[in-house]
Amino acid sequence: MIKILLVGGGGREHAIAHAISRSEHAHQLFAVMSKKNPGIAGLCEDFLLNAENDIEKVTEFALRTGIDIAVIGPEGPLAAGLADALDRAGIPSVGPKRAVAKLEFDKAWTRSFMQKYGIDGLPLFKIFNRDQEDAALKYVDELGDVAVKPAGLTGGKGVKVMGDQLPDRDAAKAYVSELLAQDVVVIEENLKGEEVTIHAFVDGSHLAFAPSVQDHKRAYEGDLGPNTGGMGSYNDVGHLLPFMNEGDYEAAKQIMKDVVARVREETGEEYRGILYGQFILTAKGIRVIEFNARFGDPEAMNVLPLLETDLIDIARAVTEGTLDAIDVRFAYKASVCKYAVPAGYPENPTKDAPIQVGDMGDALLFYSSVYEKDGVVYTTGSRAVAVVGIADTLQEAEQIAEQALNTLEGPLECRHDIGTQALIQKRVDHMKSLRDKNK
Ligand code: AMP
Ligand code: GLY
Repeated sequence: MIKILLVGGGGREHAIAHAISRSEHAHQLFAVMSKKNPGIAGLCEDFLLNAENDIEKVTEFALRTGIDIAVIGPEGPLAAGLADALDRAGIPSVGPKRAVAKLEFDKAWTRSFMQKYGIDGLPLFKIFNRDQEDAALKYVDELGDVAVKPAGLTGGKGVKVMGDQLPDRDAAKAYVSELLAQDVVVIEENLKGEEVTIHAFVDGSHLAFAPSVQDHKRAYEGDLGPNTGGMGSYNDVGHLLPFMNEGDYEAAKQIMKDVVARVREETGEEYRGILYGQFILTAKGIRVIEFNARFGDPEAMNVLPLLETDLIDIARAVTEGTLDAIDVRFAYKASVCKYAVPAGYPENPTKDAPIQVGDMGDALLFYSSVYEKDGVVYTTGSRAVAVVGIADTLQEAEQIAEQALNTLEGPLECRHDIGTQALIQKRVDHMKSLRDKNK
């Protein structure tokens, strides 16, 4: 009997729990989550409702329940050093230690690290601290069109891009000044292209890659409105997205392999867990937006249900450094994931409202930021539940997801355009026009 601890209580973690529940190994699942996610609770032997960043309590629970392997879902506990604490207690984790989780929680460090080792995919960038405001503002003029990023963890919401959240160069400069008062700032060239997520399982030296996924950050249909953690995502049959070619995927994989090899050289620590590469495919090739030290949410809900290899075998291999000895396979299918979010999300979301889910038909349902009380499921104000359609074509997958959305009751909204032919064609046309311009 193998005992697995899952840390985290969102949609991503429900997808991890679901994948573990499909394992053929005799196992028991335990969880630590801040609120009672009914999907995870239903798959667990026992769970602790506690802050996930509370290293001491999580470690204590892991020791008390006799955990063999921990799977750490969110970035918070990784940045807080949970994998280090569990390791000291003799429990291996799928999730990197703090020294290498830095790839996610310190964007300035990661950019400098990539530059130091000559890793491909870097945009033009410079890093500034509070004493360098003049130079920072001059650099905005030099690049002309920029993305401005606080160096620390922001949940994807602190980055602002010109032509998007920053209407013009003056607005970009004002944001630089505002951020410099509190944090180190990274100023980068504004990359134009299509975004791609690629996950890999990593065992310190080997990487096993998942199919490419595209997330949708903007809150409203037509890619309008404020940025969110992600409103939904899709993958196509195979490992490429409709606007990518094999060379783009290979280039991205090589960058991730280089990062894993070099981060060990730089820190002396092996990267074991999930590496999430967020890329922009530009007319000039693939560029790195950022790395995360965990699965994407929603992207995990696309790729984990497609996983054909036993996740417990993968988890063991990740912690033992034997990933090269197993064949990590994903089903050759398309999937579309759509999030239902509380009405008014993200700016003025409806909190503590009861919601109901109906017959999911062929779709999968993942609970995210909700809590269950006396058998009723309530919204929290963040992304509530996600539905996933899986099929031989994107079109069928999208329709399965839509049918499932129709069964949801309560004050919820979603982006119906995610995964539709029309929106995907827009992405393909966008990429083609950028490539044509570059000829
Ligand atoms: P992040 O928090 O790093 O995931 O960034 C949030 C969003 O900002 C990304 O999903 C991109 O859409 C955008 N972004 C980040 N960096 C750049 C860049 N250098 N050029 C254009 N867009 C960017
Ligand atoms: N969906 C983006 C992320 O998980 O960071």
